[in-house]
Amino acid sequence: MSKGKILLTGAAGYIGSHTWVELCQAGYDVVGVDNFYNSERDVIGRIGKILGKPVTLEEADCSDFGSFSKVFEKHPDIVGAVHFAAYKAVGESIEKPLDYYKNNITSLLNLITLMKDKSLRANIVFSSSCTVYGQPDKEHLPIAEDAPLKRSLSPYGKSKQMAEEILSDSVIAYPELKVCALRYFNPIGAHPSALIGELPRGVPQNLVPFVTQTAAGIRDHLNVFGDDYNTPDGSCIRDYIYVVDLAKAHVKAIDKLVGETEVHPVDQTDEPTYVDAAKTGRWYIYNLGTGRGLSVLELVKGFMKATGVNLPYQIAPRRQGDIEQVWADPKKAEKELGWKADTPIEEVLRSAWNWQKTL
Ligand code: NAD
Ligand code: WQD
Repeated sequence: MSKGKILLTGAAGYIGSHTWVELCQAGYDVVGVDNFYNSERDVIGRIGKILGKPVTLEEADCSDFGSFSKVFEKHPDIVGAVHFAAYKAVGESIEKPLDYYKNNITSLLNLITLMKDKSLRANIVFSSSCTVYGQPDKEHLPIAEDAPLKRSLSPYGKSKQMAEEILSDSVIAYPELKVCALRYFNPIGAHPSALIGELPRGVPQNLVPFVTQTAAGIRDHLNVFGDDYNTPDGSCIRDYIYVVDLAKAHVKAIDKLVGETEVHPVDQTDEPTYVDAAKTGRWYIYNLGTGRGLSVLELVKGFMKATGVNLPYQIAPRRQGDIEQVWADPKKAEKELGWKADTPIEEVLRSAWNWQKTL
């Protein structure tokens, strides 16, 4: 028996496609929505191949209310949504801020409106990002959910901060709404089937796609941006999380929101009219990372060891706007969602390489 129908926006994208597989394998029905702005149509057939059954994709633009609302008219029995649909290129967002705010914010406003007005139950899981923390102060590392949010350095990052504000204000105003914001650290790797993975357009900006393209001979070498940071080997530190582990966290978040029938608001003694969203008992934030920081040089060496493939690299100047080091404290997600990222990094890097070899 199905555990319920879940709407996935941006379902054909990198994280969406992996989450689609995990949700179906956990017993949910999934309706995917995508406008294929940053994904390929054949991903849908590939997801079907992994699952061994046809899957449902409604082509629509979430930033267009008319187009998006038709999905809800066709599927009035949606009990939860995972909202991935957004533009995500940090550099591009600085050049085209209005495109980013229009797509990322309007899509979210439409989703909240449609979920509360047209779905069976208004449960939303939102794709947020560790970018909301900016460069955390050293005393906040590893970074927990209650660390201060710093001013974001790009319209993309700001769109995630704004989205969290919009969602938390909506939870306060609309009692039917329950939201889980998931702050992803650096998702990498591909499905073990090598049927789905990351599809960067043009020259990859992110580290792992650049690494795999270099290993495949598409690029002649990798530039390691900076070896003079205040870190043990001088290169930047990040928390690289396997995309399949990340996808599984969405299943746990949906289980939590859909499975909870009762809400337990935190006691309000002086009845303020506008409260902290967390006090409603319908607003959750979780960091999704491994809890382990890895430097660029460690990742590069780890890739060569895991795959046996040589990776030419050079030390290059620092990349403007890079954060020196950030990694997650994922204990809250472990405690409250029962989720932990546990795939060994060698296996993750091999999955990225196996996917690259199919491209
Ligand atoms: P992606 O670009 O691979 O997937 C996003 C999908 O959304 C694409 O298939 C795109 O075509 C679709 N889309 C965009 N705008 C749309 C619209 N208006 N209507 C319908 N579909 C639309 O990106 P991803 O890496 O899978 O990221 C998914 C989400 O996770 C995004 O919200 C992103 O900001 C967030 N996130 C990603 C990372 C990362 O490093 N990949 C890290 C933190 C957060
Ligand atoms: C990782 C490390 C680079 C490429 C971005 C977004 C962030 C979030 C995750 C969405 C850095 C170094 C990279 C290269 C290199 N996305 N690097 N050579 O910058 O942590 O975060 O993705 O929310 O918002 O900003 O990820 O993969 O670009 O870089 O040395 O060719 O690899 O300097 O230290 P980043 P990344």
